[in-house]
Amino acid sequence: MDLGQIEKEAENSISLVKNTSDLEKWRIKYLGRKSALSLFFNSLSKLSLVGKKKQGQKANTIRQFLSSLYKEKKIDIESNASFSSDFIDITQPGEKMRQGHLHPLTLILRDITNSFQKMGFSIIEGPEIETEYYNFDALNIPAGHPAREMWDTLWIKPEHKNQKSKMLLRTHTSPMQVRFMETHQPPFRIIVPGKCFRYEATDASHEIQFHQIEGLMVGENISLSNFKAIIEEVVEDIFKQKVLVRFRPSYFPFVSPGVEVDIKMKSKIKGQKSKVKDEWLEIMGAGIVHPDLFKRAGYANNRWQGFAFGLGVERIAMIKYRIDDIRLFFSPDVRFLEQF
Ligand code: DAH
Repeated sequence: MDLGQIEKEAENSISLVKNTSDLEKWRIKYLGRKSALSLFFNSLSKLSLVGKKKQGQKANTIRQFLSSLYKEKKIDIESNASFSSDFIDITQPGEKMRQGHLHPLTLILRDITNSFQKMGFSIIEGPEIETEYYNFDALNIPAGHPAREMWDTLWIKPEHKNQKSKMLLRTHTSPMQVRFMETHQPPFRIIVPGKCFRYEATDASHEIQFHQIEGLMVGENISLSNFKAIIEEVVEDIFKQKVLVRFRPSYFPFVSPGVEVDIKMKSKIKGQKSKVKDEWLEIMGAGIVHPDLFKRAGYANNRWQGFAFGLGVERIAMIKYRIDDIRLFFSPDVRFLEQF
């Protein structure tokens, strides 16, 4: 048997070994009890003393060499295994964390309220569940008045038969006008941001829930031109550009005269189709507070004058952020929310 050839064969074949089970096969073949090398050691007894010594030394060197090959390979395979399971490659590009942010309605509500605050308005809140009195009667919209049809109402089932005032989900933020005036004396300027509800079939421009910001400024000589000046300032602050404001005569039972306020951008909104630049867009109803409301609040005759307005928050957000469907605001569609 040629020991040199066995050595060479073992050395060559270990380079092909890739895992522990192949390594074990290799060990059995070249270092095991039945390996050519072991058989050779067994056969040494038949040799002469000189032969034993010479051949034995040679075989021993080969066995040591093969053992060292085995050990090296073993370490190699084990470290490779740990490489794939525990190793952290700090040079690998990281996985980007998704970051949350405020809802577009929160953003626009903050923009608008901040802007009014800069003009000296205080922020007041009111109940979403209202009485029929504040939502309608106190605003000159008694039962049977045709104007009630402007607000499709979600009524709340009475808790008991003798309940005085019927309850509803407020259809606008205007009920806060009389509520606030009952407990405060002019002069004042307030805004009332809040959620409103209507019993409507939904489509791209109608939702059963939406937000309004009511405004009320009462003092000694407050006129529609004061209102126009304030609104111009506020919309330019919100849209960050020159905006044209126009009033159109309109009717709301709690103001006289009543107007509808339209705006038009003087230049294109960034990223917006040019069409919008030339369009008048309606953003709110407004007017001079009807004297009946002052009477209900218990104010002295003819002393005070003021304006009121009700601004559609989703409407402003749709113009500013180029959203074409109001229903998206309350949908859980992440693709929509990610745009902001
Ligand atoms: N409350 C009205 C609506 O929901 C909007 C409105 C119009 C509010 C005129 C006002 C106002 O304060 O003066 O349609």
